[in-house]
Parts: sequence; structure tokens; C-alpha cells
Amino acid sequence: MASAPSSTAAGDRAARRDERAAGRSAYESVIERLSKASVDKHWEPYRDIPWDEPEFLVRRADPRWELPEADRLGGHPWYRSRPPEVRAEIGLWRVATAMKIGLQFENLLKRGLLNYAYRLPNGSPEFRYVYHETIEEGHHGMMFQEFVNRTGLPIRGMARPLSAVAQVAPWIPLISTELFFVFVLGGEDPIDHVQRKVLKEGRAHHPLEETIIRIHVAEEARHISFARHYLRDRVPRMPAYRRHLLGVAAPVVLGVMARIMLAPPGPMIRRFGIPARVVSEVYLRSPAARQEIRDSVSRTRELCAETGLINGFTRRIWQVMGIS
Ligand SMILES: [Fe+2]
Ligand SMILES: [Fe+2]
Repeated sequence: MASAPSSTAAGDRAARRDERAAGRSAYESVIERLSKASVDKHWEPYRDIPWDEPEFLVRRADPRWELPEADRLGGHPWYRSRPPEVRAEIGLWRVATAMKIGLQFENLLKRGLLNYAYRLPNGSPEFRYVYHETIEEGHHGMMFQEFVNRTGLPIRGMARPLSAVAQVAPWIPLISTELFFVFVLGGEDPIDHVQRKVLKEGRAHHPLEETIIRIHVAEEARHISFARHYLRDRVPRMPAYRRHLLGVAAPVVLGVMARIMLAPPGPMIRRFGIPARVVSEVYLRSPAARQEIRDSVSRTRELCAETGLINGFTRRIWQVMGIS
């Protein structure tokens, strides 16, 4: 027979332990549900996308690639005064660059997930889920690269120095798995934000672009959900000093990642001779551009606030990074 708690303090400790156990089993059942959903609902690019159907072929001058007026570059008088085929090629260039940067980010992400999974103990529910996610990201990488190849354009992803620095990302799980999943959300949330906006635009998109985005949004919902549940489960249990360090690092990682995902592609600016004043008006000095960066991390910012990562000190860092 279990003995009665010797004091209220002991009773409180036991209650807190029970609460943690309940929270833990809720967390584990979320992971099991996500793993099952990965089996029930997933897509394969070379089985589920009819790449060679006539209406799925990519033609550079297709007016459906043109940026809409509501887009900051698309609505700019400089863009509107270009001939239609140039407007279409700029739009296609931008879509393809976003996919190229997306697949580079996901390449780093997959390597990091595998580094994380390598050390997981037997019976860990995260192991199976993380393998499902790695496989899905493998399909996304093939899907994005196939699209880029079919444009025939010389698309480059991240700038070379940035790409060199980014090679540390897969090793973050060896230092802190919590920081790694902040990095994951830092890339996945802005991509998801932009892709959901495209689907909501209500104009005719190229069927290939639309199919790729729909597949990606559907599968990313699971990845984002996992990262969020992981952080909700782990951050409150971190030792105070580690949580404080994470609170400092999180806004830096998120601010840099959002800019990588949303920045104007340099090769596009050079190829089409976009004047510096247009780039500055559209991307750098525009209040709408700054708002876009803030909006793209808003869900992760709320999560950080909820898990106690934002306090008087770290709030200043969010402000400096322009994402508060
Ligand atoms: Fe993905
Ligand atoms: Fe993902």
C-alpha cells in the first residue's frame, strides 16, 4: 500500500509529477497520431504529380507566372512597365528560387533530424515520427528540384557565404535539440506562411505550382505540429540556464531564417536589371516588407511566449531582430 504523503509540500510535488505524466502521455499520443497520419496521407512526387501532362508543362512566357498587382514587386510601376514575357519570367524565377532555397533548408533539416534520431533510445516514439518526417522531406526535395529543372533557368539558392555558414545547422541537435527545433520552425513557418497565402490568393495558378504547394502545405502541417509539441513538452522542463540561453538564441535564429526565406534573390535582381531603388522600395524600406517578416514568424513567437522564452531581456532581442 502506498504511504500517505508526509507533508503538503510532498503532496504538491506528487501532484506536479502526475500533471507532468499526464502531459507526457498526451504528448506521446500526439506523436503516435502524427506517425499514423504520415502512413495514411502522403504523396510521392513521381507517382502523384503528372509532370508530363500537357497542362503541367512549364513554359517561361506563361502569363500565369506573372506576379499579381497585390504583390509588392508585382504592383510596382517598374514591374508593370516590363513586357509580358519578362513579367512572367520574373514571376517564375521567384517561385523557382523559393523552391531551391526550400530544398536547401530541408536538406540541412533532414541531416539534423538524422543526427537527432541517431542518439534516441530504444522505444522512443520520436524515432518513428522523425523517420517519417525525413522521408517526406526527401520527397519534397525531389519535387522542388524537379520543378527547378523544368524551368530551365539558372536558379541558385542561398548565397554562397550563407550556404557555408548554414552547414553548422545539422549539428545543432548535438548541442541542443530544443534550439534545433526552433531552427526547424524558423524555416518551415515562413515557407508555410507564403505558400498558404498563394493558395488563398484566388487567382489562376499554374497547375504544377498549385499541386506542389498543396502537397507541401498538407505534409508540413505535421512537421510544424511535431516541432511545436516537442518544444511545448521540453522547454518548460529545461534547466533555467539552458532555457535562458535558448531564449536569447531563438529570436536571433528566427530573425535570420525569416530573412533568408523571404529575401529578394540576388541573381534575379542582376538578371533582370531590377534598379536598386526598386529593390529598396519593395524589399528593404517598405513597411509592408517588414510586416511580412514579422507575420511569417508570428506563430513561433506566440509559442516562445507561451513556453516562457520571452521576458524583459529577450524581448529586446526580438525587437532588434525586427520580429517582435
Ligand atoms: Fe518540406
Ligand atoms: Fe517540413
